[in-house]
Amino acid sequence: MTMSWPHVSVLRGEVVDALDPRAGGVFVDCTLGMGGHTEALLDAGADRVIGIDRDADARAIAAQRLARFGDRVTLVAGGFGELDAHLDALGVDQVDGIFADLGVSSLQLDAADRGFSFRFSGPVDMRMDATTGPSAADLIASADADTLADWIFRYGEDRFSRRIAAAIVAGRPFSDTLALAAAIVDALPPAARHGRIHPATRTFQALRIVVNDELGHLERLLPAATARLRPGGRLAVLTFHSLEDRIVKRFFARESGKDAPRDGYGRPLQAPRLQGCTDCAPSEDDPNPRARSARLRVATKSGVYQPSPRSVAS
Ligand SMILES: C[S@@+](CC[C@H](N)C(=O)[O-])C[C@H]1O[C@@H](n2cnc3c(N)ncnc32)[C@H](O)[C@@H]1O
Repeated sequence: MTMSWPHVSVLRGEVVDALDPRAGGVFVDCTLGMGGHTEALLDAGADRVIGIDRDADARAIAAQRLARFGDRVTLVAGGFGELDAHLDALGVDQVDGIFADLGVSSLQLDAADRGFSFRFSGPVDMRMDATTGPSAADLIASADADTLADWIFRYGEDRFSRRIAAAIVAGRPFSDTLALAAAIVDALPPAARHGRIHPATRTFQALRIVVNDELGHLERLLPAATARLRPGGRLAVLTFHSLEDRIVKRFFARESGKDAPRDGYGRPLQAPRLQGCTDCAPSEDDPNPRARSARLRVATKSGVYQPSPRSVAS
């Protein structure tokens, strides 16, 4: 029986080309999700993929989908911000490629009971790992109006952040996503209620980023991933909004020597750890709605390529 998987992997072919697993090797998929990119890497020749996800539902679906690969797949529960700890626990030192497909999956967005979406009634939760940490409702209940406005402005880039924060404080507690979305819409001037995107989109994005410390995980991942790559290994990151894309773009610029700190003579203070940075976006007519704002950034670890022992053996 052929099973179908609701989440369509963004730029699947481009990600495989970027990581180039044809010669085998060990790869880390930091955002396993429903396993689409991991499956593509294994089909293309990877010896082993270590798939990290902090969502138990995603890991359960990926386990089913990837069962045919047996011990070539290792599933890891946890956040990719703790990459070093995960690899240490597995006894893995260096790897041939590392990939991250940032943000939420359609599995999470489409499940009303996860609380990520203003399209359905659900709890105001938004935790990717539903077993730990404060939910969005908890954060809303305890934050003051200035903090809420700051989150909505910085992580949602919404110019009505102060009005929205004031309305949320006035209307809390919120236990239902539709009630929260309605309060956000009501806070806006009438002319701002009918834009190209739903008026609650930015605030929901901001809350989700805070609840899951999404940018903190990314900031921790990039240096750890760079250190764990073999010379010649590739780091590929799919971003979906300007905040995360800016972090990756700046990190690549700094680590490839372009914006590196320099001494008094203008010489870089350290040898570039990354090189050959590229980026691409899906074509405008990509049928996958998630692909619309996507950007794939790829960099290569500097140095002479040394294949992993396992890929030499296989
Ligand atoms: C866009 S989906 C990945 C889809 C996957 N590439 C596929 O093709 O099926 C993102 C996944 O990453 C997970 N995720 C997001 N941030 C994470 C983090 N910091 N640590 C671990 N998992 C994370 C989410 O739970 C979600 O399942």
